[in-house]
Amino acid sequence: MTLPFDTDQPETAAAIVAPNAGLSTRTGWDLVEAAFRADLIVPSASNFLIGNGYLGYRGTFEEDRQDGFVACVVSDTYDMADGKWRELCNAPNGLFTEVRVDGEAVSPTTGTVDVFKRRLDLQHGVFSRRLSWRHGGAAVTITGERFASFADIHLLALRYTVTADRATELDLYTGIDGQVWSLNGDHFRTCRAEQVDDRLVMTATLTESGIDLVVAEAIALTAPSSTAMDVSEGERQILRTGRLALAEGQSVELLKLVAIYSGNDVDDPRSAALAGLDRAVAVGYDRLKADHAAAWDAQWADTDVRIDGDPAAQVALRFCLYHNIIATPAHSDHLPVGARGLSCQAYQGAAFWDQEIFNLPAFLFTRPAVARALLTFRHKTLDGARGKARRLGYRGAFYAWVSGASGEELCPDFFFKDVLSGRPIRNHFNDWQIHVSPDIVYALWQYWLATGDWGLIEDHGAEIAFEVARFLVSHAYFKEPKNRYELIRLLGPDEYHENVDNNAFTNYQAAFALRTAAAIHERLAQDNPDRLARLAAAIGLDDGEPAVWAKTADHMYLPAPDPETLLIPQFDGIFDLADRRPDDVRQDLKDPGEYWGWPNGVAVHTQVSKQADVVQLFCLHEGFDDAVVRANYDYYEARCQHGSSLSYSAHALVAARIGHADQAYDYFMRTALVDLENTAKAISGGTFIGGIHTAACAGAWQVAVFGFGGVRLAEDALTIDPRLPKNWAAMSFPIAYRGGRLTVSVAGDTVTVAADLANPAALPLRIKGRSITLDPGRLSAGSAGGLKPERPLF
Ligand code: IFM
Repeated sequence: MTLPFDTDQPETAAAIVAPNAGLSTRTGWDLVEAAFRADLIVPSASNFLIGNGYLGYRGTFEEDRQDGFVACVVSDTYDMADGKWRELCNAPNGLFTEVRVDGEAVSPTTGTVDVFKRRLDLQHGVFSRRLSWRHGGAAVTITGERFASFADIHLLALRYTVTADRATELDLYTGIDGQVWSLNGDHFRTCRAEQVDDRLVMTATLTESGIDLVVAEAIALTAPSSTAMDVSEGERQILRTGRLALAEGQSVELLKLVAIYSGNDVDDPRSAALAGLDRAVAVGYDRLKADHAAAWDAQWADTDVRIDGDPAAQVALRFCLYHNIIATPAHSDHLPVGARGLSCQAYQGAAFWDQEIFNLPAFLFTRPAVARALLTFRHKTLDGARGKARRLGYRGAFYAWVSGASGEELCPDFFFKDVLSGRPIRNHFNDWQIHVSPDIVYALWQYWLATGDWGLIEDHGAEIAFEVARFLVSHAYFKEPKNRYELIRLLGPDEYHENVDNNAFTNYQAAFALRTAAAIHERLAQDNPDRLARLAAAIGLDDGEPAVWAKTADHMYLPAPDPETLLIPQFDGIFDLADRRPDDVRQDLKDPGEYWGWPNGVAVHTQVSKQADVVQLFCLHEGFDDAVVRANYDYYEARCQHGSSLSYSAHALVAARIGHADQAYDYFMRTALVDLENTAKAISGGTFIGGIHTAACAGAWQVAVFGFGGVRLAEDALTIDPRLPKNWAAMSFPIAYRGGRLTVSVAGDTVTVAADLANPAALPLRIKGRSITLDPGRLSAGSAGGLKPERPLF
């Protein structure tokens, strides 16, 4: 078997993907880095991450240690070690492998580097690297190839070779390194190493939770002559070491398999890890890799968006899809998608509103079962949301701004620091940013429209919607003289302005959620009164409550467009604030690391926003006239700092809708390149927030499919009205809809939609304004001039 970097021939780049980071693609499916960038070690290792939703292993090098920001972040290992931040843990590093020559570690930062390459194969989730290195009279080439199995999520595999470019004596170290990077405290109360037959095992007992996180490792070494490997233990390390004398041209190959389990996965993680390892050893590296690749092929068949004519956009988008997928615990229905996925511990491996409004749609229309699992997670965390509501004096369910597996609020009161004084800042993300609750109801309704799966609504959605409605009613404030409900003391999507009243986004979302809860109640009363009765008894629902939800929605203050300017106020009084622009406000900073927002930041008394807010509203609610959307987009876009990576995709979506084609494309590339070009700040107000921006990644899918592909969910049909960027000759993508599958192909002005033969029923579509019902196995051909009659596909 050849490795991707088995030769040291220069890579032929098909396209430059991220010029500032030196990343190109060779195949349209890979990312290649041809020079080591010490200034980018943290973001590059995030970009080159491998993972599978259970674990994320950063794209560091085999020889890297704690100070190289190595991490294997494992889902469902929430633990608090410093009294403030509960976060996921990094497992002991089971892939640790190092070569030393004359005591000098072979790495990109030592000796003389003749060849350096790092590659990520997005199609099959394979990381590889090549390093040709000289020091004194010795010269070696290292290649490494690894994958986090997509077929067996507890498994990591590494194929590692060392070739002597000149006769060289070297020391090989490989084993488990338990000294790992940790953002907020040491999560290992104890760390116990052992050798079990020919396998190495490390059991870390987590500091707060007390569960065990177990890593078991096995190797197979192919050396020119028999090489004895001794096992030794050091501080949180268990290593095999051996000395090898390689003649010029000779190689040694190390195959390494690692199994990881935690006490939250199984009762006995040590036995599970050892058994998993034995199974993997029996299957063997090549077969494991083939199974892994087949699982990815199936995933891409449901997911890939093909772009013709723009290779950089193509790879950037695939990179985004890849990361959205490996961030998501598709294997479980009780875990969230972290805002930074499993790329590092930033944002605590926890769900924000990002999950429903950004990540989830990309699954809803590709693998709806994953969307179902994410919504089920919200159902399983209802008690946490109820507890938060109770604690803050409300009824119903007030979802955590930052939610781990239990649903309790993980967002600390003091999130950022004032970098000038060092004093902590009381951010009210956790108690004023209420829109996460109605956002979840919004996603539930989208799920129902896209899948037709009412079962989820009956089983879980109704309870979520009813409890959120109760919360909103208890939060809303009736202003008698105005005869309307208001939502006061809020924090909307624009996080620079806290303690605002009537944030338009929040109020519209709240009214939508209240109406949705009333509608679900009405349908349940008709269709399944028994289920409704059981649910009502379980949550103590009064007969009169749904009428109150509907009344509160009807009287909710929804900030309307001004008749003259057409502007919707983002919140009460925004137009009285200083009308400045982000670049102008930036000049007021005393320190570039200052937080711009509440209570004292430079943006607070200005109209400068952190991220899309009114613009975000238009992404979710389509009922506004184009003239209103255009006026507001133009106004707020000019005042938006894009201080959150969530902002670009929202702007791209709205720009595409109103025909600002160049801006739509520009914002699309900005969301797709956030991580590749490392454009987002890694530290804000003294808090590390680096890693993969999973919402921006998923936002790129939304822009491609909703924005350029023109896919929209209407109540009665799926509408498709593409607007390709001018440099895209064609695009095609799969869409899951109402239990069936479609393939949408757009070439210039022509749209064709193919319905899978296996679809359970004909699907209602509106393509470029014309309604059709597409039977299974049929192809609908469209052109600029209108649709041709549907014809059979097979
Ligand atoms: O949820 C977002 C928020 O909108 C902006 N700050 C980062 C959070 C996590 O991505």
